[in-house]
Amino acid sequence: MAVESPELTIVLNHPAAESYARLIEERFPQVRPIVAPDSNGLERYIGEADALLAFRFPVEVFDKAKKLRWFQCTGAGVDSMFPIRDRVGHITVTNARGIHGDIIADFVMAGVTMLHWDFRRFLREQANREWNPRYVAPLADKTLGVVGLGSIGATIARRAKSAGMTVVGSKRDISVPVDGVDGLFASDALEDLLPLCDFVVLALPATPETVGLIGAAELARMRPDAFLINIARGNVVVEDELVKALQTGAIAGAMLDVFEREPLPKESPLWDMPNVIATPHVAGSPTNYTERVFSIFADNIERFLKGQALKNVVDLGRGY
Ligand code: GLV
Repeated sequence: MAVESPELTIVLNHPAAESYARLIEERFPQVRPIVAPDSNGLERYIGEADALLAFRFPVEVFDKAKKLRWFQCTGAGVDSMFPIRDRVGHITVTNARGIHGDIIADFVMAGVTMLHWDFRRFLREQANREWNPRYVAPLADKTLGVVGLGSIGATIARRAKSAGMTVVGSKRDISVPVDGVDGLFASDALEDLLPLCDFVVLALPATPETVGLIGAAELARMRPDAFLINIARGNVVVEDELVKALQTGAIAGAMLDVFEREPLPKESPLWDMPNVIATPHVAGSPTNYTERVFSIFADNIERFLKGQALKNVVDLGRGY
């Protein structure tokens, strides 16, 4: 139904645009949602948008977005905006932080368990009907390090603590302790943190400062029996240096949900390395994702209409 004199026009550039539009129409008759999941729709309507909802900011149409005042990202990471971050001071950027921590912590603890027991090998042995007992220490004897103790990282830390693990982690501001974290390191003290860990979990945003953070030197600081788990962004790791570290035994293995290029190219050696578990960028997406995002988005629409400060605002200078 067309909205006459809408108070707010929101372009929905997302595969679930129709669902978001329905949810908006049910709750906000004064708002005009525009369904524009593809580039044609975006080209056509972005000039009318006061607000935009998308997972990645479509930088290619930024110059046409003359009225845009608010970008609601449906994910946690807003790295797609970095190419234009010096030009978007007039746009409020909000993200969906708060809905990813629990599911990512589930995923990380599954990865910790699978890597620790070498479940890939058990599954291969089962397929061959081989009875080959191997025993491991309890996780309570092990140390997990979280690089990036934001809301996702802190949830992972609490979960690892509840498994009895020793938990260390890094963040930019270490003046405030983090629940469940036994040892807190400043983000520039990675070289001290890495050798302590049996598991290193990357949970930091990709920003111009963190892209390429984990390369050969950092992987060499990890112990040869340690595992890397990346649920952040692929480009935080120098992928070919990781491949080398995994091939040469500089580290024991990895669970990777994110990659420099996604989908992970068919020819990537990561697909069939025996010490790698590779998953298709799923760790942070619980079921009913649209409804979960909408609870944040709707609150922000209400605030926007009332001229109030929005929630989950991202500081693009910091990058999260
Ligand atoms: C997913 O990767 C997200 O940023 O939410």
